[in-house]
Amino acid sequence: CAAQKGGYDTFMQKEMHEQPYVIKETLRAHIENNLAMPELSGLDVSKINQIYYVACGTAYHASLYAQYLLRTWIDLPIYCISASEFRYGNYRVNENTLCIFVSQSGETADTLAALKLSKENKAQTLTVTNVLGSSLARLSDYVLYTCAGPEIAVASTKAYTTQLVLLACLCLKLASLFNKGVACKNHMINQLKQMPDVVEQMLAQEEKMAEFAKLLTNQKDAYFIGRQLDYLSVLEGALKLKEVSYVHADAYMAGELKHGPIALIEKDTVVIALATQPSVAQKTISNILETVARGAKVILIASQSQNTEGFEYVIRIPDVDPLLSCIPATVLLQELAYYVAKEKGCDVDKPRNLAKSVTVE
Ligand code: G6P
Repeated sequence: CAAQKGGYDTFMQKEMHEQPYVIKETLRAHIENNLAMPELSGLDVSKINQIYYVACGTAYHASLYAQYLLRTWIDLPIYCISASEFRYGNYRVNENTLCIFVSQSGETADTLAALKLSKENKAQTLTVTNVLGSSLARLSDYVLYTCAGPEIAVASTKAYTTQLVLLACLCLKLASLFNKGVACKNHMINQLKQMPDVVEQMLAQEEKMAEFAKLLTNQKDAYFIGRQLDYLSVLEGALKLKEVSYVHADAYMAGELKHGPIALIEKDTVVIALATQPSVAQKTISNILETVARGAKVILIASQSQNTEGFEYVIRIPDVDPLLSCIPATVLLQELAYYVAKEKGCDVDKPRNLAKSVTVE
């Protein structure tokens, strides 16, 4: 029965370890003959002139990723709005809008309200969810399912990474529907197919992350930094750490450090930094060095080719396309959060004050 821990200490750990399998299943459902095939027949893209992603929590972070990809590949305005803001904001949604809702449970009250509002405004609606027949799935024009299986731990892990791979497939598909074919399509699909192995390699680094986690167990705060896609990964990493370990964590765009957060960095402050994006990694390294100069201890997640000389706590992700490096990086950040929580004796699967699915506003 899926509601068993299968030999793992916690559901969260079990679900982290299921990621290679559920990512493979999700790819199998949405890639066929080397084509990204999310089923969208009937979707009329000819009149769509803007796209909104709408979601909450971890699903919102997945949506930010999809926004980033789509903005890279198609030439339309692409927005990503938290559902709790969307429903009260004056967003110009109309019949020329495609609204994409992302939700593990398919039942989140704010996301559901946002969907209803979009439908009232005649937008075309598409839901990405993990739960068959959920409210969002039933009410949307189109539905795509992640194949994560039941996720029991409150903190989302496998649902998130399956959302990332499915959204990557969806973005490839939308890019081809909008006739702006992605030049690197075959390469991206081949890279996506590597993800189960890549995630497996990250899970094998668990002990190293458990060691790094000890730096955080007596800390009140942690600072996550990154640029571009690395910034989106650190948003999720900081959320995970807060949720399960109660260490206050904030994520900053590395370039914003100097505009405020650097004032908080002092001796032994822990900074978790990502430098996986070749176009900006060196800039991030400069920002990290500014924190080191103030006595910070830095956990650095870097690409294979990144020079990390002088850094003590370094972990590398495998060689993958930079547009996908958030997947292995996220797995490392999940492990970090998990081991800080374990070390502190927290109830990892059921963090205080949180619910798996928030069905009231
Ligand atoms: C709750 C959960 C989060 C989740 C969010 C959105 O806050 O604790 O883990 O990300 O709801 O849930 P959904 O089911 O819409 O993805």
